[in-house]
Amino acid sequence: MKKLALAACICATAFVGIASTAIAAESNPAIVHRQSIYKVAGGHMGSLKAILFLGGKGDALYHAEAIKGAFDHMGKAYPAGSDVGETKAKPEIWTNMSGFQEKGKAAYGATLGLIEAAKSGDKAAQVEAFKTLGGSCKACHKEFRKK
Ligand code: HEC
Repeated sequence: MKKLALAACICATAFVGIASTAIAAESNPAIVHRQSIYKVAGGHMGSLKAILFLGGKGDALYHAEAIKGAFDHMGKAYPAGSDVGETKAKPEIWTNMSGFQEKGKAAYGATLGLIEAAKSGDKAAQVEAFKTLGGSCKACHKEFRKK
C-alpha cells in the first residue's frame, strides 16, 4: 500500500514537471491549443519528408490523414483576446480574418490533395502534393506569423 502511494506521488510529480515545460508560461487555452495542433501537423510533415525524400519506411496515407485530423480539431483557434500572450500570431490575423481564412482553406485543400495522392500510391504525385501543402503552410506563416 505504501509502495503504491509512493509510485503515485512520483508519477504526479513527473506529470506536473512535463506539463509545465510543455506549455511554458502561456495559460491562454486558445494559444496553447493551436500551437500544440500546429506541432502535430509539423511532426507529420517531418515524417512525410522522411518517407518521400529520405527513403524512410512509413505510411504516407496515415500521416496525410493525421494532418487533416489535426486541422479538423483546430476548433475556434483565434478567438478575440488570443492575440496577447506568448504567441507568434500577428495582429493582421484579426484585422484581415478573411485573408487569413483563405490561407487556411488553401492548406486544407492541399491536405486533401495529399491524401488523394497517398491513396493513389503514385510517388511523384505525393511529392508534388507534399510540396504544394508545404508551400501553403509557408504562405500563411509569411503573412500571418511573427518570425
Ligand atoms: C492559415 C494560416 C496557417 C497555416 C495554413 C499554417 N499555419 Fe502554422 N502557424 C500559423 C500561426 C499564426 C502560427 C503561430 C501561432 C501562435 O503562436 O499562436 C503558426 C505556428 C506554427 C508552428 C509553431 C507551433 C509552436 O508554437 O511551436 C508550427 C510547427 C506550424 N505552424 C506548422 C505548420 C504546418 C506544418 C502547416 C501546414 C501543414 C501550417 N503550420 C499551416 C498559421 C498557419
